[in-house]
Amino acid sequence: MQPKREYWSTRIGLILAVAGNAIGLGNFLRFPVQAAEHGGGAFMIPYMISFIVLGLPLLWVEWTLGRYGGQRGHGTAVAVFDYIWKNPIAKYLGILGVVIPLVVVVYYTYVESWTLAFSFFSLFGSLPDTTITSSVKDYLRPFEEFLSSFIGVTSESDVFLKPSVWAYLFFVVTIFINLYILFRGISAGIERVARFALPLIFVLAIVLLVRVITLTSPDGRNFLDGFGFLWNPDFSALTQPQVWLAAAGQIFFTLSIGFGAILTYASYLKPKSDVALNALATASVNEFAEVVLGASIAITASVIFFGAVATKQIAQEGAFSLGFIALPAIFANTPFGEFFGFLWFLLLFFAGVTSSIALSQPAIAFLEDEFNLPRKKAVMYLGMFLFVTAHIPIFFKGALDELDFWIGTLALAVFALLEAILFMWILDSKRAWEELNRYADIRVPSVFYYILKYVSPLFLLVILVSWVVESLPSALAKTGISIWVARGFIIFVIVLGVVLVKIAWSRRGR
Ligand code: TRP
Repeated sequence: MQPKREYWSTRIGLILAVAGNAIGLGNFLRFPVQAAEHGGGAFMIPYMISFIVLGLPLLWVEWTLGRYGGQRGHGTAVAVFDYIWKNPIAKYLGILGVVIPLVVVVYYTYVESWTLAFSFFSLFGSLPDTTITSSVKDYLRPFEEFLSSFIGVTSESDVFLKPSVWAYLFFVVTIFINLYILFRGISAGIERVARFALPLIFVLAIVLLVRVITLTSPDGRNFLDGFGFLWNPDFSALTQPQVWLAAAGQIFFTLSIGFGAILTYASYLKPKSDVALNALATASVNEFAEVVLGASIAITASVIFFGAVATKQIAQEGAFSLGFIALPAIFANTPFGEFFGFLWFLLLFFAGVTSSIALSQPAIAFLEDEFNLPRKKAVMYLGMFLFVTAHIPIFFKGALDELDFWIGTLALAVFALLEAILFMWILDSKRAWEELNRYADIRVPSVFYYILKYVSPLFLLVILVSWVVESLPSALAKTGISIWVARGFIIFVIVLGVVLVKIAWSRRGR
């Protein structure tokens, strides 16, 4: 029996949904920080190379695998790997395509809820005041303290966070918003939200861009200083391997590759749809949102207001410092600043929602496709799981970073490598190429055949090995209750996944 599957109802809706999947906090917070820290304009060279040899080819792989699975009634890597590779272990490797997004959404949703909270704080004027001083540190302090007490970082306790009531409330609201959209399904939920949210994201980003471009500082800096800071190339950066790793990592993150989430979205294509052009279109929309819009807002504003040296320090403290501390602190002393702060956090929230629903969908698809659960039931199970497990990043200090390292960084490179090998080597490269080009609205240049077959897997392997060498020893050396809770949770989810796959397949009598 061929099970009934949902489909995207329009092509534009589909492109917006997948673009919404890709456009997230990474475009507006992570990219500018990465570029600023890794050579400015020179960062764009490894970034664009990674886009061509890694990003675009792997996107095509995920789209093609997704359509392939969808045509057979399955929307996750579990079944797709099982079809491609007649080895009993394939389906268990495929569960990574469900486990990775599921673990990531547990903490991604929490961060997303901060953006919703901060948009309300901006609108109702409950963010702190700060007076202009010569010291950037003093100027930022009230905002730093505000964020710390919001998420509950206290110096006395090394283990627990004590989040404010607001943090908890907004988290609950955010979970419900996500579940409601998922509950409505692919076209009436996800696609409808994307059709409304994506244009809104672009409008908000352009309004903020104009605001930032017209900012000036008392010492006479303007947006040209900001653009110069970000784009003046420091070519010496190109000799450092970390710059290449950072560029490849950003490409992965921003295009949502190696999570299994693109694969699942592509499984809801109508069987005879193009994938070649659709993948290219969504990647282009994402790059515009990243390189043009994302790069020009937060970091530019910070350079104008605080200068290049202080901005470098802020960037080093990470994306949260830039987005949740520096930017609202700038708006605190500019005309209608609260309103622009509201727009900024609203932008982040919509970018976040369209990504978190994408991260949730693989688990839902798995329950629907492999256990024949009705969607509403599957969403309910996911909701209970999310609600309970999110208490780990909410209350255990350091758990969020630990989950992000193992699953949000390392595991996805492993999974992407598996996808590339299965597609081009186990499925057979001729068949894979045919599969990609079937019903295609563009001709994929044949150089990509060789890139897909040789360059992408090799490049991925090099990246994986360097990551392991560079960061594994220090990561393994970490200890503490929170660290072990996070690791225990990861192991639990993997074991749960494996057991569920086993049950599903034994029921099917395979
Ligand atoms: N691309 C998203 C961003 O830029 C984050 C992300 C990474 C993501 N992997 C994903 C979103 C998988 C949805 C699904 O913020």
